[in-house]
Amino acid sequence: MHDYFFSVVIILAVSVIGLRSASIYIPESHLIFQKLYSTAQTAVDAKNPLTTRDRISLHGYPVEHHQIVTEDGYILGVFRIPHSHKLQNQNNTRPIVLIEHGLMGGSDVWLFLGPNHALPYLLVDSGFDVWLGNSRGNTYSRKHSSLSADTPDFWNFSWHEIGYYDIAAMIDYSLEKNGQGHKAVHYVGHSQGTTIFFTLMSLRPEYNEKIKTAHMFAPVAIMSKMQYKLVRKLSPYLGHQNLYSRLFANMEFLPYNGYVLRIFSNLCGPDQVFRSFCVYLIKAFYNSTRWNSTAMTEGIGNQPAGCSTNQILHYMQAHESGRFRQYDHGAKNNRKVYNSAEPPDYPVEKITSNVHLWYSENDIMAAVDDVLALAKRLPNKELHFMEDPLWDHDDYALNTELRTYINVPVIEIMKKFESSEN
Ligand SMILES: *[C@@H]1O[C@H](CO)[C@@H](O)[C@H](O)[C@H]1NC(C)=O
Ligand SMILES: *[C@@H]1O[C@H](CO)[C@@H](O)[C@H](O)[C@H]1NC(C)=O
Ligand SMILES: *[C@@H]1O[C@H](CO)[C@@H](O)[C@H](O)[C@H]1NC(C)=O
Ligand SMILES: *[C@@H]1O[C@H](CO)[C@@H](O)[C@H](O)[C@H]1NC(C)=O
Repeated sequence: MHDYFFSVVIILAVSVIGLRSASIYIPESHLIFQKLYSTAQTAVDAKNPLTTRDRISLHGYPVEHHQIVTEDGYILGVFRIPHSHKLQNQNNTRPIVLIEHGLMGGSDVWLFLGPNHALPYLLVDSGFDVWLGNSRGNTYSRKHSSLSADTPDFWNFSWHEIGYYDIAAMIDYSLEKNGQGHKAVHYVGHSQGTTIFFTLMSLRPEYNEKIKTAHMFAPVAIMSKMQYKLVRKLSPYLGHQNLYSRLFANMEFLPYNGYVLRIFSNLCGPDQVFRSFCVYLIKAFYNSTRWNSTAMTEGIGNQPAGCSTNQILHYMQAHESGRFRQYDHGAKNNRKVYNSAEPPDYPVEKITSNVHLWYSENDIMAAVDDVLALAKRLPNKELHFMEDPLWDHDDYALNTELRTYINVPVIEIMKKFESSEN
C-alpha cells in the first residue's frame, strides 16, 4: 500500500501540471477502480475510515495516541501499543520498537494484515513496546504550533525534514515515555521510512547510539537504477529546479479523500494514457495468491494519507542526479543554503548503527544495484536478499507470506539483540 501510492502520485503529478497549464475537465467516466471498490462496505469505509486507534483496539490491544512536537514546531500524531493484553506484561521490561511508514502512507498500513500476520501485533505479543509513527503532513500529523496546514509554508518540507526532525523527536519521546531506562530503540522503516532513517543517522550521527537494530524494508536512498518507468520518464522534467518543479513545490499532495480516488479512477479509464499502468496495478491487486485481498480492501478505504509535493520532487532529484543528497533549490539558492552550487551528499558512512537491508530482485523502487551501492558505504550492515523472485515493493505490506519471510526473522534479530544485552 505504501508506495504503490507513489504511482498515484506520479499520475497526479502529471495531472496537476496539466490542470495548471490548461484547464482540463476530467469527466465522470467508467471508473475501473470505482467498479472494483464500489461495494456497500467500501462506501461505508470511505466515509468513516477507521483510525489506527480504532483498528488496534478492535483487536483488544491497549492503544495510546500521542502528540509529539518537533524542534521546528510540527505536531505529530503517533500511536503506541504499550503492551500485550495477551501477555499482561505491563509491568515487565519492554524494549521499544519504532515503525515508520512509506511515502503517502501512515500508521494504518502496518495493521491491515491483522494480529496473526502484521508486524506491530507480532512485536507487541513478543513483549515489545510498539510505536507507530506518522510523519509530518499525513492524516495524523497536520498540525503545527504556529503554521496552518492551509498555507504553503506548512508544506515547505521534504523527507529531509521528516528524517532530521520527526524521527529524532519520535526516538527521544518514546525513550522518555517508556520510562524503563532504555537508551536505544529498534527501528523499522519501509521505503521512505528507510530514506528518513539514512538522512537522520548521517546528518545527526549521535542518534546512531539510540539505535539497537534497524530494519530497512525496500531501502531507498540511491535511486539511479530504479526501474520505475513513469518516474524515469518524469524525472527529467521534475528532477531539477525549473518551471514545472516550482509550480509543483510546497503543496499538499493527496490528502485522504474520496475525490482523489475518483481522479485516479478517471485516469485509469479505458481510453486514458495511464491505462496500461493501471492494469498492471490491478493485476497485482488481484494476484490473490500473493497479496491478501481482505487487507487490500481495508487499505483502499484508508489511503492515501497525504504528503508534501516536495517529497516527490526530492525523490525525482535523487533519480536524476543518481546521488543520495539534499534538496536541490537550484544553483543560486543552493549557494545561499549550502554554500555550494550543488546540494551536499548525505554522509552515509557516518551511519554506525546496525542496519539490516531487506531487499529483492523485483522491487520497482529499490533496485538491487542501488541497494548494493548504498550497502558498500555503510559501515555496519547486514544484507537480507529475498528468496522469492517476485517480491515487489508493496509485498512488505500485503504479501500473504510476509510473516514467514520478513516479520518473524526481524523479530528474531531483535530478540537476539535483547538476550545478548542481558
Ligand atoms: C502491575 O503492577 C501494579 C502495581 O504494582 C499492580 O497493581 C498490578 O496488579 C500489576 N499488574 C500485573 C498484570 O502484574
Ligand atoms: C489477511 O488479512 C485479514 C484481514 O486483516 C486477516 O484476518 C488474515 O489473517 C490475513 N491473512 C494473511 C495470510 O495474511
Ligand atoms: C522553504 O524553506 C527554506 C528553508 O528551509 C527557505 O529557504 C525557503 O525560502 C522556503 N521556501 C518558501 C517558498 O517558502
Ligand atoms: C501470482 O503469484 C503466483 C505465486 O507467487 C505466481 O506464481 C504467479 O506468476 C503470479 N501471477 C502473476 C500474473 O504475476
